[in-house]
Amino acid sequence: MAGFFITFEGGEGVGKTTQTKLIADKLRGLGHDVITTREPGGTPLGEKIRSILLKGDVDKMEPMTEALLFTAVRNDHVNQVIKPAVQSGKIVICDRFFDTTSAYQGFAHGLGIDRMEELYKLSVGDFKPDLTIIFDIAHDKSHGILTEMNRFENMGDEWLSKGAQGFREVAKLHPERCVLMDSVGTIDEVSSRIMKIINEKLGL
Ligand code: TYD
Repeated sequence: MAGFFITFEGGEGVGKTTQTKLIADKLRGLGHDVITTREPGGTPLGEKIRSILLKGDVDKMEPMTEALLFTAVRNDHVNQVIKPAVQSGKIVICDRFFDTTSAYQGFAHGLGIDRMEELYKLSVGDFKPDLTIIFDIAHDKSHGILTEMNRFENMGDEWLSKGAQGFREVAKLHPERCVLMDSVGTIDEVSSRIMKIINEKLGL
């Protein structure tokens, strides 16, 4: 029996990474076989490209170059890690996936959400997450857990607010798999909220 592919998406400093680990543990506690992964990254090649993407000057590369590099990482990651795990019955939780490309490169950088979705289809095909939880938070209300800032976090508040808006557009476009979730609250409150969504949507 196939497993499930769940993605966590949203702006900066919204607690996705903490929740990825916590939710994986909760699902393991219920007897599921769970792996966690992230983008950009997830494979040795992906982790190398991650450091090219996240380090250095804000304007060191063209938006389309960025989009193509994220897409290259994704192709490697889906084929080598995510798909085989889901096909063998595991639950895969991925901290960011292609909706970030739509929100950030597509909407915030202005390349177009539709074009980023075409790029995804070209590289990955019809394989999609079963459930995408978008952590919504006003950018100025982020939990303040940004420590060492990456290239994207250095793009400025206006750009990051646009990214957050991009995620809301994505949620509107794909109501069948996306849930826009309020991410304000304690770690426990948010994780209970996520478990409730996972239970309602996937019956886990
Ligand atoms: P990361 O440290 O994982 O950020 P976070 O903890 O906020 O998830 O860095 C990933 C950065 O890469 C993040 O700022 C968003 C950016 N990004 C894109 O711009 N496009 C993409 O497709 C992906 C996957 C990430």
